[in-house]
Amino acid sequence: MEKITDNSYSAGTPQRILLTGGAGFIGSHTAVTLLERGYDVVLLDNFSNSSRDVPGRIERITGKPCPCEEADLLDVVATSAVFEKYAEAGGFSAVIHFAGFKAVGESVEKPVEYYGNNLTGTIHLIEAMRTHDVKRLIFSSSATVYRQDNPVPYSEDFPLGATNPYGWTKVMIERILTDTAAADPEWSVALLRYFNPIGAHESGLIGESPQGIPNNLLPYVAKVAVGELPEVRIFGDDYDTPDGTGVRDYIHVMDLAEGHLLAMEYCGEGMTGAFAWNLGTGVGTSVMEIIAAYGRACGKELPYSVQPRRAGDLASVYASTELAERELGFKAKRGIDEMCRDSWRWAQAKV
Ligand code: UFG
Repeated sequence: MEKITDNSYSAGTPQRILLTGGAGFIGSHTAVTLLERGYDVVLLDNFSNSSRDVPGRIERITGKPCPCEEADLLDVVATSAVFEKYAEAGGFSAVIHFAGFKAVGESVEKPVEYYGNNLTGTIHLIEAMRTHDVKRLIFSSSATVYRQDNPVPYSEDFPLGATNPYGWTKVMIERILTDTAAADPEWSVALLRYFNPIGAHESGLIGESPQGIPNNLLPYVAKVAVGELPEVRIFGDDYDTPDGTGVRDYIHVMDLAEGHLLAMEYCGEGMTGAFAWNLGTGVGTSVMEIIAAYGRACGKELPYSVQPRRAGDLASVYASTELAERELGFKAKRGIDEMCRDSWRWAQAKV
């Protein structure tokens, strides 16, 4: 890691940040946080898994403009055109890269589509950034990059590996970005390893909208709470955990958004190289505890049944938060009850 001259804008001129996949769940919440901290944002999204309403909702929350460019990173010309369009107005100071396919089960059925989309999209993005001399990139990685035989809590220096094509795309993109930063000392790259992001903005205007029947626990529980699904299916109650159900490190999406801001600022302070940070709370919560917390949030007991274990699931996954706290000053502030309350507000607003 080396110090270089900061190429950020002079004081008083807002820096403009490009968010690929910016209309998605984590991108939209990060856009709110950036706008509230005085940054300008531009979203780039192909709306394959997000809604065209989102930029307008971000504008309602923040009272600031949230331009959105409809483009697909697989389209080199369209991607480059977004950089061209903003070049005269000063270009982008940094890119936060959220865009990508993200369903674990689907990735097993469609590996070529996952590798093609996630890797090719990222390479096109890097090329466009290089052409336009933008060399600060914050990447949406995942705790899934840690090999399954690691002990908890997961620490950033643990060995990497994955069990499905989705996870491998994250491992591979981390490698591509690390090599990019090694080859050109002007690059500054953050690899943000998310644990389990849940919750929604407190306004109830933006949140997670998975298509079809959700795979992840929280969106599924939300659909049970609003009456769209009959009961929560608990995938196994015989794990080696306090109540036998799976334990995860759930983090409020607005805390996660704050982590992006801090990582982006760290990378903008002349730090070059590639840095990996966990974004979690360090606290494990079981499936049973989530069902109880959501029940408190929505004011009714949620029905559930115990099912066999889901293939590939681990008993317990949670983060070591020490590095992000020490280097970024990042500490998640919101607890499980607040996460469930905000998720419930969003779930009701959608009905
Ligand atoms: N679970 C249920 N019922 C459900 C869904 C999930 O009991 O209907 C349980 C799972 O067995 C697990 C926990 O709830 O114990 C959380 O499961 P999720 O599917 O919500 O999340 P995962 O931890 O399996 O996976 C998440 C992301 C992945 C990411 C991974 C990183 O979905 O994209 O975290 O660790 F790769």
